Amino acid sequence: LDVLGVKRDLEGRSIMVTAGPTVEAIDPVRFISNHSSGKMGYAIARAAARRGADVTLVSGPTALDAPDGVRMVPVQSAREMLAEAEEAFTDCDIAVFAAAVSDMRPKNPAGRKLKKGVSDSELASIELVENPDILATLGASKAHQVVVGFAAETNDVIENAQAKLHRKNADMIVANDVGSDVGFGTDDNKVWLVEEAGIIDVPRMSKPELADIILDNAIRRLSE
Ligand code: CTP
Ligand code: CA
Repeated sequence: LDVLGVKRDLEGRSIMVTAGPTVEAIDPVRFISNHSSGKMGYAIARAAARRGADVTLVSGPTALDAPDGVRMVPVQSAREMLAEAEEAFTDCDIAVFAAAVSDMRPKNPAGRKLKKGVSDSELASIELVENPDILATLGASKAHQVVVGFAAETNDVIENAQAKLHRKNADMIVANDVGSDVGFGTDDNKVWLVEEAGIIDVPRMSKPELADIILDNAIRRLSE
């Protein structure tokens, strides 16, 4: 414990966190994106730094300040996030994928601002293509890293989280029910920690408190 009574149980450990939304350009002034305050990922980065870890936070645009003692890597698109996360992933002990990555992006972003007054037929569609899955890509290449993903579900929360655990080769999925009144932009969250060995039902609590619970469980997996 340090002078404030904080556990320093991540001293000498390296942690990578993805957080916030990604933004995908339609043209130089417009984009498609996801709702994401970034609060959960930033809380994990802050808690890990307080507990002594060397933290890299790869973040899409949010309204939050960089947590103290954290290396911030700002990104815009999913492809940029993948490139930066890949670099931080190689040597980290724990990787937490809390970002709300846009599943798709405009196929051919315009190089110039689209002006009003074009025909309805030109406005009828924006062609989209799928983005890379950052967690699945890095999960497939994991060696010693403990890999923690998230799942935002409106139904069959546990079943969907278990499917993501396997599909993305993660060690743990933090599953949250976005159909209820907690999740996006709120200060509280209600989650289940889904692992191969079983499920932990975590009571509703603040995101900073939950950050410490998620780290406690990732650390347990480190020492396995
Ligand atoms: N994720 C990611 N890259 C993506 C999409 C998702 O790294 N392109 C990560 C998220 O950060 C989260 C986990 O994968 O940790 C699950 O994200 P979620 O959106 O719930 O799942 P998807 O696999 O995208 O499936 P769907 O949105 O269709 O439920
Ligand atoms: Ca998704």
